[in-house]
Amino acid sequence: MDMSVNFMGIKCKNPIFVSASPMTSCYEMIQKAVDAGAGGIITKSITSDVRENVRPRMVVGKTGLQNIELYSDLSIEEWEDEIRKIKENDISIIANISGNTPSEVAYIAKTLEGFGVDGIELGLSIPHGEGMEVLTSNPEEVYRFTKKTVDTVSIPVMVKLSSNVSNIKDIAKAIERAGASAISGIDTVRSIMGVDINRRSVHLPTYGGYSGDGIRPIGLAAIATVSQAVSIPVSGIGGIMNHENVLEYMMLGASTVQLCTTILMNGYGIIGEILSKLEKWMKENNVESFDQIKGSALKSLKSFEEIKNLPYVAKVSDMGDCSGCKKCIHKCIYSAISASGEGIYIDPKKCTGCGICASVCKNISLGWY
Ligand SMILES: Cc1cc2nc3c(=O)[nH]c(=O)nc-3n(C[C@H](O)[C@H](O)[C@H](O)COP(=O)(O)O)c2cc1C
Repeated sequence: MDMSVNFMGIKCKNPIFVSASPMTSCYEMIQKAVDAGAGGIITKSITSDVRENVRPRMVVGKTGLQNIELYSDLSIEEWEDEIRKIKENDISIIANISGNTPSEVAYIAKTLEGFGVDGIELGLSIPHGEGMEVLTSNPEEVYRFTKKTVDTVSIPVMVKLSSNVSNIKDIAKAIERAGASAISGIDTVRSIMGVDINRRSVHLPTYGGYSGDGIRPIGLAAIATVSQAVSIPVSGIGGIMNHENVLEYMMLGASTVQLCTTILMNGYGIIGEILSKLEKWMKENNVESFDQIKGSALKSLKSFEEIKNLPYVAKVSDMGDCSGCKKCIHKCIYSAISASGEGIYIDPKKCTGCGICASVCKNISLGWY
């Protein structure tokens, strides 16, 4: 099956990119991603401020990971040789860059264009320390950074969004207005993973970025909002752990996706696993190209006004393989569900249609879609 995609004019053998991360910090790491079958690579953030990384910089929690990793520890000049070696493969490489002023990021972008990268991902989103909230929350500032970069290079420019903003739609529109070719998102979510209550100390010594399973709902909401606000392509990032999560992002409008924490947790082999499961799903569902599924779930996403006054009532749709676990009974705070003979009875007078029972049991349907 042909899994190739054309993303902002760049041909990629499949839509699975490895995001800016430790896995894309140098040629050796990137080559492992290429060998694992990635369709494209986004480099670790390249800046003019090169310094050794902090130690420790990652902590794993139950639903994800917090990191306080800095930018690339290779200088802009050192990337020339890395990019030359990576380009010996048939792989698209996009350079993620970051800086403090529009001219600084434009200069870095121009230099990397000269080294042969296929595109730029402008990172305005890091949530570490005191973060870049002031910049990333201001559509006019985001416009200035994007416009200067777009005007300086001839290769496509994608801008990586922060989720730590309340006006993501305005930011996305400013990026499109500035001439960017695509938008990616999300970056990690500002976080403190936890507190060691015996030492009375946080696990990592500054605010960091939360990634992995726990941030997928935030990423999906951001991508749905952005896809509906702009017409340039979107690259979905955030908690993509398996092929189903890839499909979720695509059905909400993403053309490509980027993986990070799932590779940190499961190794580079997860890329091939996701690709083969994606291909199998497509065959089983008679889907021939990703365009057929792109944005297909957006029509089910209603406005708050539309969902008011809809008369949903939970019902038992099929008790065929009820395991008798009684989870639905225990979860019902309205006491509307009881055991009835071999099966389950939902009292329509008590059921308020909240939906929790249907989330824990596939035999219960709310019948709204
Ligand atoms: C250890 C680590 C380092 C990261 N470094 C960068 C970076 O240099 N630049 C950047 O834009 N994003 C960086 N990210 C963010 C990821 O690219 C990605 O946006 C985020 O982790 C969400 O995706 P995930 O849930 O699949 O991990 C980093 C993430 C992690 C976990």
